[in-house]
Amino acid sequence: MDKGSFGGVINANDDTVWEISPHTAAKHSILKKYIQAWAPILAQGSYHRRLVYIDGFAGPGEYKNGEDGSPIIVLKAIKEHQLRGNFRNTEFVNIFIEKRDDRAKNLERVIKERVGTLPSWIKYEIKHSEFNTEMKQILNELESEGKNLAPCLCFVDPFGWNDIDYEILSNIMKYEKAELLITFMAGYLERFVWDPIHISSIKRLYSDEQIQKIRESSNEENLVTKYFLENLTENIRKLGIKDRLFNISFATYNNHNRLEYYLIYLTKSCKGLEVMKSAMFFSAKDGSYKFSDFDFDPAQKTLIDYGQESDWVIGASEEIYQLLLTRFGKGRSIPIPTVKSIVKCESKWMFKNDILAEMEDSKRINVFVDKRRKRTFPDRGYITLN
Ligand SMILES: C[S@@+](CC[C@H](N)C(=O)[O-])C[C@H]1O[C@@H](n2cnc3c(N)ncnc32)[C@H](O)[C@@H]1O
Repeated sequence: MDKGSFGGVINANDDTVWEISPHTAAKHSILKKYIQAWAPILAQGSYHRRLVYIDGFAGPGEYKNGEDGSPIIVLKAIKEHQLRGNFRNTEFVNIFIEKRDDRAKNLERVIKERVGTLPSWIKYEIKHSEFNTEMKQILNELESEGKNLAPCLCFVDPFGWNDIDYEILSNIMKYEKAELLITFMAGYLERFVWDPIHISSIKRLYSDEQIQKIRESSNEENLVTKYFLENLTENIRKLGIKDRLFNISFATYNNHNRLEYYLIYLTKSCKGLEVMKSAMFFSAKDGSYKFSDFDFDPAQKTLIDYGQESDWVIGASEEIYQLLLTRFGKGRSIPIPTVKSIVKCESKWMFKNDILAEMEDSKRINVFVDKRRKRTFPDRGYITLN
């Protein structure tokens, strides 16, 4: 099944369906949690008449042992949503792009079998096509009709990096409420940066100077991801987009505990970031934002168990303290809403009172609020750093 790797394409499976790995299941858990939280935020109150999900590398819709593929996960998450009664004024448009004919056909069949009849407000279309070609067409049509893209999550989930195109991704991000979720093969890029078979495809993503620095760096520095995000951001800026861009990543490791890829989320919305953070947080162990097949024991843990532990609060409070210290120094008054916004929009952590309580207990901050319940941090107060 595994044909190995060649120029920018990794583990190209020949069969129509293939076996799922635990880290793919973790990726699916993130996607499902995100859609479940994203749909009501955008759809309730019918503020948005249309929401779009683009699965750019849709796959066959199922895995070898019957697990659902990403298009099925998303359709079911919307169709079976607890709050679906409130979604009826919003149209959910799903575009599934799949290059291979056998997989596109399989997907068509699996949707019918597993998702069944859809209500009129959920639409889908399977495009037997290539992601970049199809996206160019969609973007050109929007451009020529002067239309804006409805809030859209575009999942870019290729088997390598050959189809990662800064221009297409940047043009998607041109739209106000567009977001990207990218499977970025950082582990392979680090390993193949010396490989003559892969180097021409790698040169599409990085400058010669960046490639040199990646070669000289340690894997821990993760320059492949850092430069990828920098180059993508630069491309987005070239289109005149000045909005703040937020990103968060989730690392996946294989059964030898080697880095496979980062799932990278890019958005202009701090609220979107918060929602994705929570989806990623609860799909990993104790705030680690990473998942390894190596120490995943299917007999002991389900993905759902993760995030119940609270040791992460200690690490989070240290990181947030350092972030605040760099920004404000010691002794300055910092309003509590500012602190919360920094945690939510500028750190990888979700805001919890426990984070500030931990800082207060360890006397790293003083808290100034009239009358409050213990371990709470109402917005009317402020803190100073020690
Ligand atoms: C990693 S799999 C996708 C898995 C799927 N997103 C899921 O999570 O269940 C990548 C898929 O992209 C398809 N593919 C490869 N190149 C493509 C391209 N340029 N455009 C669209 N699909 C492509 C492959 O045939 C394969 O089915």
